[in-house]
Amino acid sequence: MNDAGTDGRHADAVAADETVVEPPDEFRESAAVADDDDVYDAFERDWPDAWGRAADLLDWERDPDTVLDDSNPPFYQWFPDGRLNAATNCVDRHLDERRNQLAIRWFGKRGERRSYTYADLHREVNAAAAGLRELGVEEGDVVTLYLPMIPELPVTMLACARIGAPHNVVFAGLSADALATRIDAADSAYLVTCDGYYRREDAFNQKSRADNARLQADGSLEATVVVDRLGDALDVPLGEDEHDYGTLLAPHDGETVEPVARDATDLLFVMYTSGTTGRPKGVEHATGGYLAHVAWTTRNVLDVRPTDTYWCAADIGWITGHSYGVYGPLALGTTTVLYEGSPDYPDRDRVWDLIERNAVSVFYTSPTAIRSFMKWGAEYPEAHDLSSIRLLGTVGESITPKAWHWYREHVGGGDAPVVDTWWQTETGAIALATLPGVSDMKPGKVGPPLPGIDARVVDRDGDPVEAGEAGYLTIDRPWPGMCRGLREGDERYRREYWAETTEGWRYRTGDGATVDEDGYVTILGRVDDVINVRARRFNTAELESAIVAADGVTEAAVVGDDSGGVIAYVTTRGDVDPDPILRESIERRVANAVGEVARPDRVVFTPELPKTRSGKIMRRLLEDIARGEEFGDVSALRNPEVVGEIESTVREEE
Ligand code: WTA
Repeated sequence: MNDAGTDGRHADAVAADETVVEPPDEFRESAAVADDDDVYDAFERDWPDAWGRAADLLDWERDPDTVLDDSNPPFYQWFPDGRLNAATNCVDRHLDERRNQLAIRWFGKRGERRSYTYADLHREVNAAAAGLRELGVEEGDVVTLYLPMIPELPVTMLACARIGAPHNVVFAGLSADALATRIDAADSAYLVTCDGYYRREDAFNQKSRADNARLQADGSLEATVVVDRLGDALDVPLGEDEHDYGTLLAPHDGETVEPVARDATDLLFVMYTSGTTGRPKGVEHATGGYLAHVAWTTRNVLDVRPTDTYWCAADIGWITGHSYGVYGPLALGTTTVLYEGSPDYPDRDRVWDLIERNAVSVFYTSPTAIRSFMKWGAEYPEAHDLSSIRLLGTVGESITPKAWHWYREHVGGGDAPVVDTWWQTETGAIALATLPGVSDMKPGKVGPPLPGIDARVVDRDGDPVEAGEAGYLTIDRPWPGMCRGLREGDERYRREYWAETTEGWRYRTGDGATVDEDGYVTILGRVDDVINVRARRFNTAELESAIVAADGVTEAAVVGDDSGGVIAYVTTRGDVDPDPILRESIERRVANAVGEVARPDRVVFTPELPKTRSGKIMRRLLEDIARGEEFGDVSALRNPEVVGEIESTVREEE
């Protein structure tokens, strides 16, 4: 047993399903990477130079001669002597071949639609770039974007990239406090926001939240641009140094702004992400390595082509939306779907309706979303023609074998490859996944590291663990998409993530994992999700996967209570009565799969689990409730209203 939380026997429960699923022949034949490409060997033989293949997917203003400068670890520089512009790569270079092909198909909350061809996108990105310049934005100035899922978000990201101004996207659902912190921390003088957006039927005033943030921020904001999302639905007066987006762009319509060639190592964007403690960290991504790795994985892992209509359902306010909602698909010149609404509005078939309407061929979402779909029922996808789907992807947390099979069967027509992709804000792009035309899939296991990624599962002393034993997921050699550092400084970056070993520098992911005989990695969750149950350590994921294996259970979260026991919070399918029999069956399953020692002391049924906006279950909050402790601000949750409900259920049962 080691510090990552569990011993091997227990960890195996996470992926109790030992099914191996081969890539379908038809997919294999046309996949971006085929078996006989020998891509794993090529990367092994020729590392790091093999990563030049990723750089080759981009257009460079000056081609890089050097692939990697590792002279100052862990501050690695990828393609350091290359120069490029990210916006040119995502827009201009497609004009010759596909100027009239759709780049973005947008669907608004009220059923509105807008489509942008690559020519349209080029025109608006240029006008926005000119507008930002007019306000005084120069190369290197950080522009904060606080926008919902509307086309102006990718447009302004690309406009920033065009003029070499790093963007700092703040998820539109975050509070004024969170926005103020991020404006200050990023030292940003410019803000782009909107009047508001619809929440269900109501117009929500985003601008007033931005105003509050501006009051709280340290006064460095010089100008604000306000997109008119709601028309007459909200009256939002503009103050001094506030500019209407449309009015700002109008005189620049048709203008071309010369793209600023950037060093590959120059900052493309900063993205704040929550750490284990304290304030969010500003993760900095460099232009060349990031874009190359994102393009390479969009092509080879998600198998996206220009001819696809592709949909990454993640919000652009998080890293997945940056890499695989904007930069990846547009760098490859594909058509991408942008959806503003929620998956169950106006009805629970909205996602399937959009896939059918757009003939989406590649769909990328999270296990959390898939669990909701399961909970709502297979009748929703079954009512639609989803035969356009060629590949499915998942990201963000472990997917249970049950959810994996459901996704493949009901969304993927029973035969689409499902790629489970592991990565982080800091890794920039996918680092672990199967190659869909090459590797067998093992539901519940992410898969091996991608070619060129040196991921290992190690014990406390840094030695590789035996197959099946839990350890820490680490990455030994650098990779192109890695962040170049933290806004908070080099020292913090080194301390948070890196360890020096006898073999060199090692990146610590913060995740616990096991690896099997074939090198397939199973993610056990964050190392800090480890819970102590009667003085034995378990990872939440192993208990939870045992629980969700029970018939009728849709989601579960386990936390330790104050007597060393474990409480399981469980949601069930709508038609299932959470009765004592189910309770007993859940407890028994955990005892069987993991051991008596982990048998939940209490099972609390709840209609929903509290989630962050990015869909992560807020375990700490559930732990506070379990322990009868005060819990902090819940306003950052997607569903703050469930907290009170859960608390009263727990108290009632006591
Ligand atoms: C978790 C999201 C299991 C993991 C792209 C990681 C996953 C954290 C997977 C990063 C996966 C991501 N299976 N766990 N396929 N993908 N994670 O920064 O704990 O929002 O450390 O990036 O999500 O979350 P982040």
